[in-house]
Amino acid sequence: MNMPSLSKLESKILKDLKSLDTTKLKKKYLSKEGLLTKEFANIKNVPNDQKSEFGKRINKLKALINKELDNSKTKAKIKRSPRIDPTAPFDCNTHNDKKPHILDLEGSSHILMQEVNRFNEIFTSMGFDIVECRQVDDDYHMFESLNFPKGHPARDMYDTFWTEDGFVLPAHTSTMQNRILRNKKPPIRTVIPGRVYRNEATDAGHEHTLYQCEGIYVDKDISVANMIATITEFLETYLESKLEVKIQPAYFPFTEPDCEFTISCPFCSKKGCSTCGYSGWIELMGCGIIHPNVLKSANLDSNEYSGFAWGFGVDRLTMIKNNIPEIRHLRAGSLKFLREY
Ligand code: DAH
Repeated sequence: MNMPSLSKLESKILKDLKSLDTTKLKKKYLSKEGLLTKEFANIKNVPNDQKSEFGKRINKLKALINKELDNSKTKAKIKRSPRIDPTAPFDCNTHNDKKPHILDLEGSSHILMQEVNRFNEIFTSMGFDIVECRQVDDDYHMFESLNFPKGHPARDMYDTFWTEDGFVLPAHTSTMQNRILRNKKPPIRTVIPGRVYRNEATDAGHEHTLYQCEGIYVDKDISVANMIATITEFLETYLESKLEVKIQPAYFPFTEPDCEFTISCPFCSKKGCSTCGYSGWIELMGCGIIHPNVLKSANLDSNEYSGFAWGFGVDRLTMIKNNIPEIRHLRAGSLKFLREY
């Protein structure tokens, strides 16, 4: 579909939103054969320089229809609920069962959770299992088991929050590596989404609280080529775009070699745009071959097994995919923002 026919579809949807009932609306646009579902499948055929706008417009249409579906559910619920008299005296000791029924409106999932679910779906289809990250951890899992001995200067890269009794809010999801490596038998293919914390001065690109998604793959004879292929496959599926990738050197104590995974900008095909800061490339995540000391700390023989791991920012990828310019929008709790997704 080209842009003029997309405009036609837009006006058709706007008209149908007013006239069709929700079952018909859902069937016509969002079912397997739905007109809008087809456009999502079609995104790969849209010329690269129009992909970003096309994606934004069809996402907006989907959000509009979903909002209408939600509204109609809420209206039906309101109809079913008995009216309460807000002026009647209310005894706060009344047992829950006897309290007047107060409407609990249904919410929707937050954009970050929608994206985490999408990641889980893709990784599951690639054979990974999913484990949730802890939200409070200890020095061993945050540092020692990841080859940061006490006093190692690389600890400074992860300035985070400590409790008075020596626990730590994880600054990355790599805190789960040791547990996964210890408790599972190779082949290990696990993805760990989780909330992490950094002692940051916040700005449009930095937050003190964010989500990361860690991945671990351990088996016999695993190489950098397996790592590049796996991460590329995930990103191409998620971003619905063919990508050029490159890796460049980085530093993490828990990998050797340590890499930064960079992709060609899916929005401008390397011509340069605001999403990629006019460089044509976007640095997306840290990754590398798991350091033998990390395998050793989980009692795995590094002569027999090798593997790779990665960690990316869920917020960052969400922002790139949805063209969100300011990370702080994601946690500001503004309904105006949240209702767009
Ligand atoms: N934990 C790193 C960070 O937050 C990211 C990372 C780098 C995770 C390399 C990995 C890895 O698993 O292998 O900065």
